[in-house]
This record gives sequence, structure tokens and C-alpha cells, in this order.
Amino acid sequence: MLPSGTLRIHELTSEERAVYATLKPECLPEHVAIIMDGNGRWAGRRSLKRFIGHQQGARSVQLVMETASRIGFPWLTLYAFSIENDLRRPKAEINFLMRLLKSFLESNVQRMMDNNVRIRYIGRTHELPAEVQEKMRWAEETTARNTGTTLTLALKYGGRSELVDAFRSLAAEMKLKHISPERITEEDIHRHLYTAHMPDPDLLIRTSGEMRLSNYLLWQIAYTEIFVTERLWPDFRGIHLLEAIADFQLRERRYGGLSESVGEVEENPERIRIAAG
Ligand code: FPP
Repeated sequence: MLPSGTLRIHELTSEERAVYATLKPECLPEHVAIIMDGNGRWAGRRSLKRFIGHQQGARSVQLVMETASRIGFPWLTLYAFSIENDLRRPKAEINFLMRLLKSFLESNVQRMMDNNVRIRYIGRTHELPAEVQEKMRWAEETTARNTGTTLTLALKYGGRSELVDAFRSLAAEMKLKHISPERITEEDIHRHLYTAHMPDPDLLIRTSGEMRLSNYLLWQIAYTEIFVTERLWPDFRGIHLLEAIADFQLRERRYGGLSESVGEVEENPERIRIAAG
């Protein structure tokens, strides 16, 4: 895949340029999804309140978005607020995250315009507070005609609830069009996901070292490469995105097939018997 947006490599920091120079531009991933984790730990290690960790996390979102746009990267999808966050976190923290989201959008839309970034959302966003939804709509409409990076925020998102929503709308379509269940294909399910308009992620990054998927993009990550870093999200910068992409380019993606280095496959039945015995 060649970068789709306009390249602004000269705007990268010299450290970022050094990593970018090691990348193969024709093998850049098309879509990177990130589980942004570790805001609370970042704050805790500095004896600060968790809120400060979230604030610093929002700054990381801005910086990573800018680096992505400078390298002409098409799709960046960030897990910003899960259904489980909404159910299991104290009300005060949820309220803070909502205010932070609003102020992030207010103060970053101009930056998105300058960087040709389009913002979109996935999740049960209609369940978010009305004033947050209003700000989200404003940011989405303002940036809708930008053609560089699409920054998608997963908000009030859960992978299982996305599948429930997809199956509900597929079932409604089947009823309307009198389609029988045997005719359902993977493509039909894909069409009803929140992510129907984008390619599946090539790379999933998780910060702060946990080896979990946390209900993120469960259908879409079937063949996604996973990169886990110990770095906490508030310390994550554009250069770390580039390093993760460099690591991704060392992987061999087989999609259930064989490695190219395997060569001709042995078809001698004698040998198969010996091996089985
Ligand atoms: C995990 O930290 C992060 C979140 C709850 C969601 C991500 C939120 C942000 C990056 C802040 C704002 C984002 C935007 C787009 C404005 P945690 O609290 O789970 O950290 P911990 O596991 O160390 O406690």
C-alpha cells in the first residue's frame, strides 16, 4: 500500500525521520488500531490524580494523529471510551472523560484541518451525553471533506455489542428482503459493522503491557498483527507509532497459508505414512 494522503515528511522530528527512513513505503499498513492504556498508572507513578493521566493521554492522541497525517497514513482507530469504562468507572471519572473529549475536539479541530485529518466515530455514540454528541457532530462535519488520515475514535464502544448491533440490522434486512439464513456471508456481516467503510486493521497496538484485546474490534482483528509495548499511553508519541510499524514490516503475514520459504509441498504418500507412523 502506498500512502494515500500528501506526504509531509519534512514536518517529522529528526528522530521520527530516522525511523521513517528505515520503513518500506510500499508495505505500510493501511489501518492501525490502538488500545490506549495506562493513563491511570502514568499518573499514579507521579503521585498525580488519574485525571492528569487522561489529560496527558489526550495530548498523545494529538501528537500521534499529527505524525500519522505527516506520513500520509490513511486509517487510525483509537479506543477512547469503552462500554465497560462507562459501566465500571466512578461517575466523576466518566464526567471528566466526557469533558476532556469535548475540549479535545474544540481545541483540535483547527489542527485536524491543518493536517487534512477527518474525524469519525464508532460505537453506541447515541448513548453519550447530548452536548458531547453535538460537539462530535460539529467536529465530524467540519472535517468531513479532509482527504488525509481518518482518525476514528471508538466511543461507548464494545466489540460484542457491535456484533449484536450488526446482527440486529442484518436480521432486519433479511426480513425485509425475505433472505434465508443459509445465504448469509461474511461480507453481509461486514456490511453491518460500524467499520463497514474501512479496511480491517493490519496492526493493533496496545500500550502499557497488558496482553488483552479488551473487547476491541473483535471481528475485524481476525488477521491483525499485534504489537504490545510496556510504554504507558501518555508517554506514547509519533516515533513509537513509527517503531511499531517498523516491527510490523518484519512480520510475515500468512492469513492461514504457508510461508513463502516453505517452497514446494511434499506430495509423496510414502513419506506421509512414515511421518504418521
Ligand atoms: C486507559 O487508561 C485509557 C482510557 C480509559 C481511555 C483513553 C482515554 C484517553 C487517551 C484520554 C482522552 C482521549 C481523547 C480522545 C480525548 P486507564 O485509566 O485504564 O489506565 P490504567 O489502566 O493505568 O488505570
